[in-house]
Amino acid sequence: MKLSKRLQAISDLINPNSKIIDVGSDHAFLDIYLNKYKNCECLAIDKSKFCTKTAIENAKKYEANIIAVTNDGLNNIKLNDEIIVISGMGTRNIIKILNFNITNDLILSSHTNIDELKEFLKSKKYYIEKEVIIEDGKTYDIICAKYKGGTNEYNK
Ligand SMILES: C[S@@+](CC[C@H](N)C(=O)[O-])C[C@H]1O[C@@H](n2cnc3c(N)ncnc32)[C@H](O)[C@@H]1O
Repeated sequence: MKLSKRLQAISDLINPNSKIIDVGSDHAFLDIYLNKYKNCECLAIDKSKFCTKTAIENAKKYEANIIAVTNDGLNNIKLNDEIIVISGMGTRNIIKILNFNITNDLILSSHTNIDELKEFLKSKKYYIEKEVIIEDGKTYDIICAKYKGGTNEYNK
């Protein structure tokens, strides 16, 4: 299974055996890859029933063990220590999804208003641990952000 350069770059940022919640998973190729090749536990969330159906069909096809659900963002999803991945959406949508008392590690790839996303993260007491720029026809910005509320690391 071959991922796009952008999704491969996101996968490369994730350690084996991680727990992932992928919001806006669409086809769930990232989750399928992470489960099959990095033994990650993945919850693929999409607001479109059609995408969830496609994700489930793809998981069967590639013999991956992921969970795919239809849901609006993280509403009513119980969070523990999962890494939350949101990619292929605009900043406004990402902010709507994350605008609560979130502390999970984040991997975000927005295709609009990166500066606004960075400001939002700062306001939520996150710092940017890593930023990767990928050229794949277009330029993609991938941000790894961690919550450091109340500690000096926030100022990194
Ligand atoms: C362009 S696709 C990105 C797919 C994949 N994450 C990637 O990076 O290639 C965006 C997906 O986000 C989903 N989406 C948008 N807003 C959402 C929300 N609030 N909750 C869940 N899914 C959402 C859309 O239905 C669509 O399938």
